Amino acid sequence: MPAQAENKTTTVSHIRLAIVVAMQEEQEQILVQLQQAQTVTRAGMCFHQGTYLGQDVVVVVCGVGKVNAAACAQLLISEFHISHMINIGVAGAIQGHLQMGDIVIGGQLIQHDVDLQALGLAPGHMFRMPSLAYDADPQLLQLAQQAAHGITAQRSYTGIIVTGDQFIACNDKIQRLAHTFQALACEMESASLAQVCSLNQIPFIAIRSISDQANHAAQLDFQQFLTIAARNASALLHAMVPFIQPEAATTTTRTDTNHSPGL
Ligand code: ADE
Repeated sequence: MPAQAENKTTTVSHIRLAIVVAMQEEQEQILVQLQQAQTVTRAGMCFHQGTYLGQDVVVVVCGVGKVNAAACAQLLISEFHISHMINIGVAGAIQGHLQMGDIVIGGQLIQHDVDLQALGLAPGHMFRMPSLAYDADPQLLQLAQQAAHGITAQRSYTGIIVTGDQFIACNDKIQRLAHTFQALACEMESASLAQVCSLNQIPFIAIRSISDQANHAAQLDFQQFLTIAARNASALLHAMVPFIQPEAATTTTRTDTNHSPGL
């Protein structure tokens, strides 16, 4: 049976922006500018609600990895009624030209550890999901790219970010991720957040900054560059947040169709 998709237009009248990070270090720059903050704890996560650069926001550390990220994303949507989600943080470089502190805007997010090839699906493609990649929201992508042009101190790139429950610290894995997915960078949350946002028709983008080269030196580099990379990702967020507008978002939703040719 051919894959089917359904277009749905949702008009968002009020912005309530979720800013999701995996680690405490990645939210520090945001919390210092959060006004009228109130904190609520759910599932062991502290959700800071307040105003950031004039926008109504919820800032949260989701923890590392795909399950933590997915649980947090659904809480933000169901309990905190967010309208948009931005994930910021650090990432390992997959392409050799990326340097520490460079910005990577996730134009597409893929879960690199999803493997249903035995059922005829491409690497990264989850069973009965319409695609293997989740696209960034067009408005958020445009704002992120505009903000990046204004920040001349850092180089910035837009491309594929891959996510998996693995800290990549090995050349063989880098080559696989580059070859299989043409990825620019790797990390452990954004495609999972993107999948939950897609299921709920919430506009999403991930903005990361390079903390390591995902190679044998990754563990030491990660510790050394975590703070500077987290600051760079926060700086880009800071430059784009004031410009986010309510939008009439047309989203493509899945239908329960069989997406595997063999099943
Ligand atoms: N986040 C930052 N560096 C990473 C790496 N090398 N692998 C996975 N996630 C990361």
